Amino acid sequence: MPWTRKHLLTLEELSLAEIQQIHRTAAAFKKVLGRTVKKVPALRGKTIVNLFLEPSTRTRLSFDMAAKFLSAEVISFDAASSSTTKGETLRDTAQNIQALKADMIVLRHACSGSPLYLSRVLDIPVINAGDGAHEHPTQGLLDTFTMVEHLGSLKGRKVVILGDILFSRVARSNVHALVKMGAAVTLVGPSTLVPEWLTDLGAKVSHDLRGALADAEVVMLLRIQHERQGSSHFPSLGEYTSMFGLNKTRASWLNPKAIIMHPGPINRGVEIDSDLADGEHSVILEQVTNGIAVRMAVLYLCAGGAPESVWSGDNA
Ligand code: CP
Repeated sequence: MPWTRKHLLTLEELSLAEIQQIHRTAAAFKKVLGRTVKKVPALRGKTIVNLFLEPSTRTRLSFDMAAKFLSAEVISFDAASSSTTKGETLRDTAQNIQALKADMIVLRHACSGSPLYLSRVLDIPVINAGDGAHEHPTQGLLDTFTMVEHLGSLKGRKVVILGDILFSRVARSNVHALVKMGAAVTLVGPSTLVPEWLTDLGAKVSHDLRGALADAEVVMLLRIQHERQGSSHFPSLGEYTSMFGLNKTRASWLNPKAIIMHPGPINRGVEIDSDLADGEHSVILEQVTNGIAVRMAVLYLCAGGAPESVWSGDNA
């Protein structure tokens, strides 16, 4: 199936077939990551600008590495030393980057909808690397890719997302992908952070941690996103941890083969105990590695890169 999208803005708008196409392409690129020379000429001659106007470690570095492994030129925009500090608008900044002959922009921004906005005012592809509390599509793609690696088909699989769902773009993107893939998704946490209307996304909502975790095959923890909360949604972090933090006792309620996920950054001892984050069921660092392969796939497909036959050979 030919890829027809120029931008990657949300997982809400992607079909199941498109999600699976990205996963298949990521699986091919993951093989490249296992080679001694982790580089293919798929995007040779293209220039990608990573426009990150909000802090990031994993997403920014893995988009950098993904672009380099595809042989693209990559420029990371340093917001602190840019003219955005002098009042330049997002639109002007992005149009200047386009005028400087960038072929693609990867945008992280605190405002929901900013990637959609740029996609309407630019001619080049825009990739959403996280917009406010709206979506983080490449995170949802790498998380579901990791789940498929461990579980195979996600049809009927019990997936629990636990924590600050209300302010989480990661949860929203995951739910859109997981529901299309047939998973049974439960969102759990305090009612202030997991309101009933989230069932509109196709997931169950629960405030009963034990019932939700019982026999779950995947549990994904989310940190409390203080930077997006205007007021406190629970009395204290200690009380949140005592009610909803994942510890050894609560992890014992899961399916014995369950995987433990977290998009990062982790607040150890708050949403998850350190020994679980580093334990045998944790796939947190696998998620990070898979992020490179998934982002290679997204950049490659949206940039209309060279055909697979050009780069897929063992010595490419
Ligand atoms: N998961 C994630 O988006 O992490 P960063 O904010 O460090 O990129």
